[in-house]
Amino acid sequence: MVGERLRTRFQQGGTLKRAVVTGITGQDGSYLAELLLSKGYEVHGVIRRASTFNTSRIDHIYQDPNHPNVKLFLHHGDLSTTEWILNLIYSLAPDELYHLAAQSHVKVSFDIPEYTGDITGLGTMRLLEAIRRSGAKTRFYQASSSEMFGSAPPPQSEATVFQPRSPYAAAKVYAHAVTRIYREGYGLYAASGILFNHESPRRGETFVTRKITRSVAAILAGREDSLYLGNLDARRDWGYAPEYVEAMWQILQQDDADDYVIGTGETHSVREFVEEAFAYAGLDWQKFVKTSERYLRPLEVDVLVADPAKARAKLGWRSQVGFRDLVAIMVDADVEAAGLKPHGRGKTILEEKIGHWNSWHNSVSRLVKAVSGQASQH
Ligand code: NAP
Ligand code: GDD
Repeated sequence: MVGERLRTRFQQGGTLKRAVVTGITGQDGSYLAELLLSKGYEVHGVIRRASTFNTSRIDHIYQDPNHPNVKLFLHHGDLSTTEWILNLIYSLAPDELYHLAAQSHVKVSFDIPEYTGDITGLGTMRLLEAIRRSGAKTRFYQASSSEMFGSAPPPQSEATVFQPRSPYAAAKVYAHAVTRIYREGYGLYAASGILFNHESPRRGETFVTRKITRSVAAILAGREDSLYLGNLDARRDWGYAPEYVEAMWQILQQDDADDYVIGTGETHSVREFVEEAFAYAGLDWQKFVKTSERYLRPLEVDVLVADPAKARAKLGWRSQVGFRDLVAIMVDADVEAAGLKPHGRGKTILEEKIGHWNSWHNSVSRLVKAVSGQASQH
């Protein structure tokens, strides 16, 4: 099976790289798949079987598997089980595996801690063990998180000692450690990107930034008159997601596997995000925003700020989209998706700063199409 697959690749020109992406239906997975396809990769995404469509973020890049030059393949799998992982690694022997799938919501991890440990923690070990057993020369990327720093004082770098404050963070610390153990113990090419919060119009609707920008649009459209939030004082280092998937790819192109902190180096409070988003839409946030204990967590991470010096020096990576730009991009997208005319500065920023990164400048209108049901279905 492996030989058959490799022959196919050789017949197609010999230089085609093959990547597996877990979590391809998520925010990051969808942008990463676009990036890899634009670089000529053959991309294999892992999706969960669901009773409803869960592919809205990748419908625009979906290809009919019967087409002769198809480059994107989807496989069913779930991180809770090992069988499909072994089959996938043995049959594809991918050059690169980007492990992005996780139960990724911090608050939810307090409600379902055991599941979070199984999927977000053990899931990583299952993949690493499959690579080790198969003997494949696969380069492995682990989606580590700034949430692992927890209460460690900012700024946080690769040398900062983790002080996790949620079941999610504890699971990520386990996954991060096991990635390093397989690198040092078995010589696997296994690297981690410790990514600070990154957002986009494709961000899940229950993360705070998207919750805010969707609410701004709903208020403008007259469909809502209030927004309930939890802790407004928490501070995060928020960047623009498409730039962060570029860093993931760069991390796996280095000669030696290593760990890198990826973030902007700036921090803002949830309150500042609210103020900026409402002001951008011409609204006074204090008339609409209320707080509710429902959204508080048993423990909070107060301040996250990246020290991205290593990524700048070794990868040459640096974020281009700043805090105000990010807010404008996200509000514009949600306002357009609500059927209203957006302010437009967000779209201009995407054209000016991201336009040359070919496949991303349309990300807003793609979202709008997906939201309004015009994206291609399969
Ligand atoms: P996301 O939008 O929540 O996507 C998570 C992905 O994981 C989805 O494709 C989801 O599939 C999949 N998944 C969840 N449980 C699964 C399971 N049991 N088996 C197989 N797939 C499963 O997350 P994201 O924002 O793109 O983040 C990507 C990764 O980076 C995650 O590991 C996250 O923890 C980590 N991270 C994110 C950030 C950030 O700010 N975004 C920062 C640091 C680290 P469904 O679509 O079927 O739910
Ligand atoms: N989700 C949410 N909803 N968060 C709220 C709310 C609310 O109504 N109100 C205030 N917050 C605060 C949270 O308490 C937290 O301090 C901050 O907003 C950000 O919350 P999220 O957007 O849910 O993100 P997160 O920082 O907990 O986790 C995200 O970033 C991590 C990287 O640091 C996720 O993407 C994780 O998967 C990721 O690892």
